[in-house]
This record gives sequence, structure tokens and C-alpha cells, in this order.
Amino acid sequence: MTDLVVRRLLVDMEKPIERHWCAGDAFRTALFDALSMSFPVGEQFFIDSVRNGFKALAPDEQERFRAEVQGFIGQEATHRRLHSLYNAHLLKLGLKNEWEPRARERLKMMEGQDIRHWLGITAANEHFTAILADFMLKNADLLGDRDERLKTLWLWHSAEESEHKSTAFDLYEALGGSYEWRVTWMKRITTIFLMDTLRQTVLNLKSDGTLWKWSTWKSAASYLFGKRGLVTLTYKPWREYFRRDFHPRQQDSTASEKWLADNSEVFTPVGAPA
Ligand SMILES: [Fe+2]
Ligand SMILES: [Fe+2]
Repeated sequence: MTDLVVRRLLVDMEKPIERHWCAGDAFRTALFDALSMSFPVGEQFFIDSVRNGFKALAPDEQERFRAEVQGFIGQEATHRRLHSLYNAHLLKLGLKNEWEPRARERLKMMEGQDIRHWLGITAANEHFTAILADFMLKNADLLGDRDERLKTLWLWHSAEESEHKSTAFDLYEALGGSYEWRVTWMKRITTIFLMDTLRQTVLNLKSDGTLWKWSTWKSAASYLFGKRGLVTLTYKPWREYFRRDFHPRQQDSTASEKWLADNSEVFTPVGAPA
């Protein structure tokens, strides 16, 4: 079991967001803004999956998971809150969130489905966020330094995603979730997540008037497929999920531990909600 601390982030989310807050780079800004748009609805689904998965456990199993589940819910609820404030600024910049209503519509299909499917979807998404988080922490300079507050927000979120990457996976296994469904959901979630990310990033760039600029495409090619590219470096850890004996804890968490140890002045630990 993992000890999960809920942290209140000491950043001012009232201050407006600059159009190209990420190092003046239109592509990276549009991509991160797109991801932020997906969090309030996505993280609520993860919370519901974990909460209901916990309720479905036998009483002695519940004791084993209780503290971790509370920590998970507290962390994701805090992420949701801060990303909602972030997203409100994006709306003021004229960016339309089409990801959220699409995800909401799709998630309606999950009503009444076995909780292991909810957890299979959540575990797959959590693997995605954990490998993305590790990438962000190890390449923090690519967030630029024009907005220290947003940089801190992304790194704090990344550190906690890496910290709680096992919770949904362990609940899935504790409830007897199968290997076959686990990888089936990963295949489906990969397609859905990549398509949604692409669609919202393109929409953000269109609204911003930067979609057809050469610099945007150059940045996209380098950020995604360069030597230090997101796709280049996350492909291998993504693929490991398909191993039968895979467990999220097998993947490196040192970048998260280091960031949390080195940046304690930007957050205060709080008790997890009951
Ligand atoms: Fe999160
Ligand atoms: Fe998460």
C-alpha cells in the first residue's frame, strides 16, 4: 500500500493566463491546455471508480485499502479543483472545451456496468498519466519559465500522478479483474485518449490562429518525436502495460519523489477527506 499525502498547492490561480504561457510556444501551450480541459470530467470518473471499487471489496480487504483510497480521492479532487480554475482562464482566452462534453457523453455508457470495467478504464488512464507525469518531471525545462505558477501546477500534478499510479490497478486486481480485459481497455483507451488529445489540441491551435504556422509544426515534431520527444520516450513504458506480470510500481518514481522533496515550500499537506 502507498501512503498518499493530500497537498494544498500554494499558487495564485486568480491571475490570468498568458496566451502562450508555455515558453511562448503555441504547440506546447495548446497541448497542455487540451490535457487540462480533460481533467475535471476524467478525474471525477477516476474518483467514482476507485470509491465504488473500494465499496465492492470484502470488509478485511477494505481495511487494507482505506487510507490509500482516501488519499487518492483527496489528490484527484484537488487536481480537479485547480484545473477547473485553470480552464476558466482558458475560456476567457476564447478556447472552447469540446473534449469535456464528448467524454461526458461517452461515460454515460458506463452506467450500470461492472465496476471492474470502470477500474480497468481508470487503471489504463492512470498508466497514461503516470508515464506522461514522469516525462514532464524529467523534462521540466520544456514547460518554460514564463509562468512559474503553471509550471508548479503541472509538476505537482505530475508528482502526485506518479505517486498514486498503483491505486486503481491494485483495486482492479483485488476485485479479480482479468488480464484480458485490462489490456483490452488499454488498447481502447489509447485510441480514445490520443484522438481526444489531438482533436482538442488542433481546436486550441485553430482558435489561437497558430494551426498553420510553420513554427507550430516544427515544435510539434520536436516535442513529440525528437530525441527528447514525448512519444519517443514514453512508448516503451506504455508498452510494458501489456506484460502479464506488469505492475505500475515497477516503473520509475524517483523523479516524483525528488520533486516532492525539493519543493516542499510550494504546498502544505492537508488531511484526506473521509
Ligand atoms: Fe490527477
Ligand atoms: Fe490520477
